[in-house]
Amino acid sequence: MTALTLSTAAAPGLRADAIVIGVAKGAKGPVVAPGAETVDKAYDGRLAGVLETLGASGAEGEVTKLPAPAGFKTPLVVAVGLGAEPDKNSGFAPEALRKAAGAAARTLAGAKKAAFALPLTDSADAGAIGEGALLGAYSFDAYKENGKDPKAKNGKAPLAEVSLLGGKPRDKAYKAAVERATAVAEELNRARDLINTPPNDLNPEAFAAVAEAAAKEHGIKVQVLDVKALEKGGYGGILGVGVGSAAGPRLVKLSYTSSKAKKHLAFVGKGITYDSGGISLKPAGHNETMKCDMSGAAAVFAAVVSAARLGLEVNVTGWLALAENMPSGTATRPGDVLHMYSGKTVEVLNTDAEGRLVLADALWAASAEKPDAIVDVATLTGAMMLALGNRTFGIMANDDAFRSAVHEAAEEVGEPAWPMPLPEHLRKGMDSPTADIANMGERMGGGLVAGLFLREFVGEGITWAHLDIAGPAFNEGGPFGYTPKGGTGTAVRTLVRLAELTAAGDLG
Ligand code: BES
Ligand code: MN
Ligand code: ZN
Repeated sequence: MTALTLSTAAAPGLRADAIVIGVAKGAKGPVVAPGAETVDKAYDGRLAGVLETLGASGAEGEVTKLPAPAGFKTPLVVAVGLGAEPDKNSGFAPEALRKAAGAAARTLAGAKKAAFALPLTDSADAGAIGEGALLGAYSFDAYKENGKDPKAKNGKAPLAEVSLLGGKPRDKAYKAAVERATAVAEELNRARDLINTPPNDLNPEAFAAVAEAAAKEHGIKVQVLDVKALEKGGYGGILGVGVGSAAGPRLVKLSYTSSKAKKHLAFVGKGITYDSGGISLKPAGHNETMKCDMSGAAAVFAAVVSAARLGLEVNVTGWLALAENMPSGTATRPGDVLHMYSGKTVEVLNTDAEGRLVLADALWAASAEKPDAIVDVATLTGAMMLALGNRTFGIMANDDAFRSAVHEAAEEVGEPAWPMPLPEHLRKGMDSPTADIANMGERMGGGLVAGLFLREFVGEGITWAHLDIAGPAFNEGGPFGYTPKGGTGTAVRTLVRLAELTAAGDLG
């Protein structure tokens, strides 16, 4: 994992493999961003011109490499685009810094140490740059080893050290920002590892074991319900989804508690370690990336551990609803009726609508503790991808103010999200002649139908929001900003922010 430090070292004498500077898109061409003054000076103040000659414009995501000026102990200058130059009175947005730092860290794979001289005016900027760099440096190569020194054989090791220039190493706020960025990025990157791990290695039992070990390490109380315990407890939804797989389901409960907590949040994650669709099998072309169907559980896991590492003054309970959705002679059939943990019965019309079934049981279990709010995270519907594309998640809720608060938190941390409605008229599409409700309704508005289904399993009077992350959970395109190919770790930072806001008394 990449290390993050603060440094007061000045550019020329600095020992590093590269120095990263910012370049913004100005009205008349590229503009060297604040933080790079000493570097610009060493180019006789002609750096903007040099960059323009090299074709740089300052556009977001652009990376230009140039040899360091004479007298520098660092051989390489990496100029990274920050996008449009902000007007005189405002600085660069945290998200612009995060993205630029991420793009720079990604191109510096293989390097040992890079000094980041990006525009930095306060500790929040330092946190954004640090977070972006640590997230951008991520790579998943656990399965590319074929020798003792895997990094040497396959690709380049991630950038080993990020040093932030212009930060104040002794300042409390700066130190806290670096600590926060490190904890959140490390846990988010672990969530990415879990998402990227092939489903033959990460089944529900294996996921539960990872959660158990991490919980013990960070003083989080952990409880794992195995198949026997689920049967005894009557968790018909989770069992019904997992019953077709040779790898049985699990329900993991992670409880982080603070002695100073005034509020209690519950996070619930969909953890389908592989979604084949079950008997309603997905066609070829739709199941190759379905190892990502546990991204919600991975996000919840990362958020709870982050809350513990940051010592947030709020109680956070994480529920990981883990199952593998497989077709077999023991699998749930379309037409079967499940007896859910809540006592309701569900007619399974389509075994591929499995996420709502495991979530229903976990939501009901979470509700029993009467938390101040519940937020579930799930790669729930293809319909949400059709609606919002593959970078934005949908937010539904049983409370408009809470939905707005979640949306605001997401925007603040740089996770694109958008509010979606829960239209009452779509509920009747799930009426079942046999059971209390069916697990499928109208095709149109499928993401909202799924949200309406979940709403039925939230305890009376409990504030609840549902994040459908099917779009942004897994990046099938090329990397961008601080987002890698594959598992993205989306929603982790929104959940952490919600926990922080709740601890501060600024939410609910
Ligand atoms: N895991 C899928 C949703 C999904 C699709 C996530 C693509 C990420 C990428 C979910 O379990 C599913 O199969 N949903 C069905 C529901 C339908 C059968 C009502 C869907 O969206 O097609
Ligand atoms: Mn499915
Ligand atoms: Zn699924």
